[in-house]
Amino acid sequence: MSKKTYYISTPIYYPSGQLHIGHSYTTVAADAMARYKRMRDYDVFFLTGMDEHGQKIQRTAEAAGVSPQAFVDAMAVDIKALWELLDVRYDGFIRTTDPHHVQAVQAIVQRLKDQDDIYEGSYEGLYCTPCEAFWTPSQAAEANNRCPDCGGPLEHTKEPSYFFRLSKYQDRLMELFKREVPFVLPASRANEMINNFLKPGLDDIAVTRTTFDWGIHVPFDPKHVIYVWIDALSNYITALGYPDEPALFDKFWPVDVHLIGKEIMRFHSLIWPALLMALDLPLPKRIFGHGWLLLKDGKMSKSKGNVVDPVLLVKRYGVDAIRYFLLREVPFGADGVFSNQALIERINSDLANDLGNLLSRTAAMMVKTFPEGLPEDRLTEDVDRELDQLADKTLEEVERRMEDLEFSLSLEAIWAQIGRCNKYIDVTMPWVLAKNEEDHPRLAAVLYTLADNLRRIAVMISPFMTSTPVLIRGQLGIPETDEFTAWESAGQAGLYQGNPQVKKGSPLFPRIDVEKELAALEELLS
Ligand code: ME8
Ligand code: MG
Repeated sequence: MSKKTYYISTPIYYPSGQLHIGHSYTTVAADAMARYKRMRDYDVFFLTGMDEHGQKIQRTAEAAGVSPQAFVDAMAVDIKALWELLDVRYDGFIRTTDPHHVQAVQAIVQRLKDQDDIYEGSYEGLYCTPCEAFWTPSQAAEANNRCPDCGGPLEHTKEPSYFFRLSKYQDRLMELFKREVPFVLPASRANEMINNFLKPGLDDIAVTRTTFDWGIHVPFDPKHVIYVWIDALSNYITALGYPDEPALFDKFWPVDVHLIGKEIMRFHSLIWPALLMALDLPLPKRIFGHGWLLLKDGKMSKSKGNVVDPVLLVKRYGVDAIRYFLLREVPFGADGVFSNQALIERINSDLANDLGNLLSRTAAMMVKTFPEGLPEDRLTEDVDRELDQLADKTLEEVERRMEDLEFSLSLEAIWAQIGRCNKYIDVTMPWVLAKNEEDHPRLAAVLYTLADNLRRIAVMISPFMTSTPVLIRGQLGIPETDEFTAWESAGQAGLYQGNPQVKKGSPLFPRIDVEKELAALEELLS
């Protein structure tokens, strides 16, 4: 029997500068979801990549004195290294300069022209190069004649252009937004699209430009290059081999979820489905627009120059701490402020204290009283079974939350279970039980219950953290085999085998001195 499939994508990022923690946020979230679905036995295709054409890249490369191709080639190395550093395991990495993609986009545009979905006209408007976005005079006026997205300067443009008949798809798009299973999540973003774009009525959109050269040339009029969005959006199908190598495409399309930041929702939820309708292809099942990570003084962005470097953060705190923080701190969907202080405080409270201490106390007590392994003779009580049942409930909650990409709530549920385990230690007082030999059968049951719960917790955190589950198993002497690492094993109490290989390891997450660390960071960034 063939497995169920799951296809998830991130945006393809502009390589006009080094990627920052905001890009890492989307990519780590997609990776967590992909890991989760793999653990649930889906055949997963996780796609990320780079959006390499456009005026901004051309200008950046010129300023650096290299060809655009050489420039993006170098950036591709850095970006892949970043994902490796963050333990991101993608199945496909598309670059819009890939020859297959270029040919496929030309075939798409030719077809749209042949069937009269694209026509010739001329475009006049205001253009933001960093965002590669056109704005109407009224949109610009509302933002003091700056780009409504990034606040940067707009350039007046008038040029011949080909247009895509977006307006033709108005009614079908409206239906799509009204269907029962939501097309766009969170719901607030769907309402924005309806009220700001669909209700006022969609205009046809300019899809080619003639004032720069770094792009895919229009096959029937090569002085035009395809303006970034048809090029960029098509990546989600060309990466699967569309149109001429259909094996992956037939297997994985339509996508289960396009994960994106909220600022590109209008491109993904209006233009993209209209293009797919024109191509007579199935529509994405879901588009999820998450919120922005903000700094105290506003959105971080390459164009503003106030980036937060993920490489530096990973080198200082480790990959799992960063992955945990990104997915735990802000409810997925909402905006949230990124601060070094919040990061350090979470490392201390959730990772060093709650999880780290639970493991180190459990392992230390096991090694101390039962260096030969836990005895068979164990005296169980109701509190033990209650803790196990709460773990069952936790697992169910994580499964439910993950379906809706509620990463933060999933982690909250797991950390509630970690909290219950710590509470269980307070209540059962194993250090008292250790003092009298006749209490050792009870102590053995308490330590078994803790170790077995840690085993289950290690499985549940596996979509989010990559080395911590291995370290937990290492200290508790749990082998790295399917029996102990598969998702199902988190649903079962009593799989832990007390054995003599328990080790008192070094702390999972060393505590950080907040004051000192903040001072050190300030020095580093100045
Ligand atoms: O828009 N907070 O590329 P891009 C949260 N090439 N997420 C953030 C973020 C922040 N501060 N900053 C960036 C493009 N992101 C196009 C996409 S897709 C067919 C083409 C993430 O380099 C978020 O996912 O500007 C956002 O949508 C994306 O990076 C924008 O990346
Ligand atoms: Mg952007």
